[in-house]
Amino acid sequence: MNKVLNRMDLQSESNAIDQKVQDLLARMTLAEKIGQMNQQDATGDTVSADMAEAIRAGRLGSVINLSNAAVGNELQKIAVEESRLGIPLVAARDVIHGFKTIQPIPLGQAATWNPDLVQEGARVAALEARKNGIHWTFAPMIDISRDARWGRIAESFGEDPFLTTQMGVAMVMGFQGDDLSDNGSIAACAKHFAGYGASETGRDYNTTNIPENELRNVYLPPFKAAADAGVATFMASFSDIDGIPASANEFLFQQVLRGEWRYEGMTISDWDSIRQLSDHGLTDGDRDAAHQALIAGLDMEMAGDAYLNHIEGLIDEGLVSEHRIDQMVGNILRLKFQLGLFENPYTDPDDFEEYGNPAAMAVARQMADESLVLLKNDNAALPLDKQKLSDIAIIGPMADEPYEQLGTWIFDGDPDLSITPKSAIEALVGNSARLHYSRALECTRNCGWEDIDSAVLTAEKADVALLFLGEESILSGEAHSRANINLPGRQEELIQKVKATGTPIVAVIQAGRPLTLTNILDDCDAVLYAWHPGSMGGPAIADTLFGVRPPTGRLPVSFPRAVGQLPLYYNHKNTGRPATDDTVIAIDDIPIGSTQTSLGMTAFHLDAGYRPLFPFGFGLSYTEFEYANLTLDRPELTDGQTLTVTVDITNTGKRDGTEIAQLYVRDHVGSITRPIKELKGFQSVDVRAGETKTASFELKSEQLAFYRRNKSFGTEPGKFSVWVGPNADEGIELQFQLI
Ligand code: NOJ
Repeated sequence: MNKVLNRMDLQSESNAIDQKVQDLLARMTLAEKIGQMNQQDATGDTVSADMAEAIRAGRLGSVINLSNAAVGNELQKIAVEESRLGIPLVAARDVIHGFKTIQPIPLGQAATWNPDLVQEGARVAALEARKNGIHWTFAPMIDISRDARWGRIAESFGEDPFLTTQMGVAMVMGFQGDDLSDNGSIAACAKHFAGYGASETGRDYNTTNIPENELRNVYLPPFKAAADAGVATFMASFSDIDGIPASANEFLFQQVLRGEWRYEGMTISDWDSIRQLSDHGLTDGDRDAAHQALIAGLDMEMAGDAYLNHIEGLIDEGLVSEHRIDQMVGNILRLKFQLGLFENPYTDPDDFEEYGNPAAMAVARQMADESLVLLKNDNAALPLDKQKLSDIAIIGPMADEPYEQLGTWIFDGDPDLSITPKSAIEALVGNSARLHYSRALECTRNCGWEDIDSAVLTAEKADVALLFLGEESILSGEAHSRANINLPGRQEELIQKVKATGTPIVAVIQAGRPLTLTNILDDCDAVLYAWHPGSMGGPAIADTLFGVRPPTGRLPVSFPRAVGQLPLYYNHKNTGRPATDDTVIAIDDIPIGSTQTSLGMTAFHLDAGYRPLFPFGFGLSYTEFEYANLTLDRPELTDGQTLTVTVDITNTGKRDGTEIAQLYVRDHVGSITRPIKELKGFQSVDVRAGETKTASFELKSEQLAFYRRNKSFGTEPGKFSVWVGPNADEGIELQFQLI
């Protein structure tokens, strides 16, 4: 009953807003409407005379990169009190993984496999951003990312549509809260629509080629889910998809988003991406570019002036109707009403808690804790026992870097809030062991002084060498793609030299992407992957190394053995010649003078095989888990039914632990070929040492639906496998029929 009432309330609220939008539109001149479609950069601590004039004249509807609430209020005052109609500005900013308090990069957040926590994190970010006068963030980035060379993989939730969907929706809910007009809510933006993650060779801004069935089955589902969850805005991708850059892509924005998904929110270009349509070679100049972006349906132009300069002319020539402009401006005004900006245009920072308040830091801390993935732990090298160690070496360029542990996209992040691994270990170990620090390299690259010799001396006198390695923040993120993704600079050599001392090595790697670890893995006794863990990375790492808490993170991306395996993802197609361990031949085993043959050969690389170094979903704990007794509550499923899948998980080790049990399915025969496995569920299960717990999953028949050969969406009857296990490569399998 309540639900029904709520829905009716929502409907009448939305009708009331629509009415206000129509009333306002009726009073606006064409120039004022075009002004609403214009977003400009407001970086700086003062208001420029040009910007003030543009706002006063109704030529600016939104600003990006607001520096602080005081500037925001000043701009807003001009909009509200000095422009003819007093329409408030909406202020946007990239608030990607925190504002002042920084949480792990989104890829690290995905490694938590904890959507509730991601939602809480977005809430914290929203509150801090709102205190600064920001109403709208350009997040979440829900681009499926399967190429670790791409710098923006850091900003993504990884390679999998299901995990990305869970995380993306959680982030939207965290930013937007229950009601956009609440003082702590900000509008979210689903970006980049669509397919940006498929940039060829991982080179940022590069062309993408995505067939429609791949687009619809892999790249679009997180966007559809975000639209269904009520995300306020969508952003066009910079990239070219099938010959039509996203900013002019009518198929994406009109047919799919507005037509099929009935999306009623607002859309925006990416930075200057309408003008760039001419650089793509799609349009001849800004007028043509504005025309095509309008046809596609981009409501607002970010940081460009194609709309400002050309819409009026396009209308005069009859190429675009004013009715169309009204619809687009209506979407923008609706967002402003939903945000409550007409009633509450100003920000009072005192309405909000301090930046970096204990609650915010606690969320950043928990997220960092849960994001750490233990990749290797030979001979129980971890956890460290501080009572048994007398000398500990802390080595490396990422041990004590308050800024670099924050990761990409942290314009507002405050490194003063950071606690580094070095200082957290000092606090944790206290006087119980001697700590010896050697930075060894000025940075992770070849960028300054190097002192590997002193690191070796430091390691020689220690019982264990903790090596803090990786990439500085600037090596990932937008426009920061890499063609080689080994540890950069002389870090591999550093490991080898420390290894030669005989002191056990624990490598802690902070990076914005999966790195290729093949060269270093054998030399390390343990490897803890920390992504860029944010403000509280240090304590999270220290507590995990010393066993105060167990590692619980799981990989949201497959880790390649070699860069040549990219793009790499577990949910690939089977091919006509699927690789198996029996068919793989190593390059060195091929006899000299062999004749060309393909008989019996399968889809693998001679020098890398076909398996990833670490599969999607992988992560060790300080204990072991065994899966047994997989059961399905029925052998057959009909459309509309739910399959209940249960499995017993036993903690066979000596320590308590948390397992993330993962459910995968395979549709064996389809009207188009289907992936060999697809994640369809996961859950975190705390299991005490020696205990067995039963995990239960519900698999709904509609989760088996896909875009079929005839381009309709639905299921197809036939044989399915279901696995439950600890990662995409392991698990127990049963089969059922969909009838
Ligand atoms: C370009 C990026 O592609 C986009 O993600 C970001 O939101 C805008 N710049 C604004 O900074």
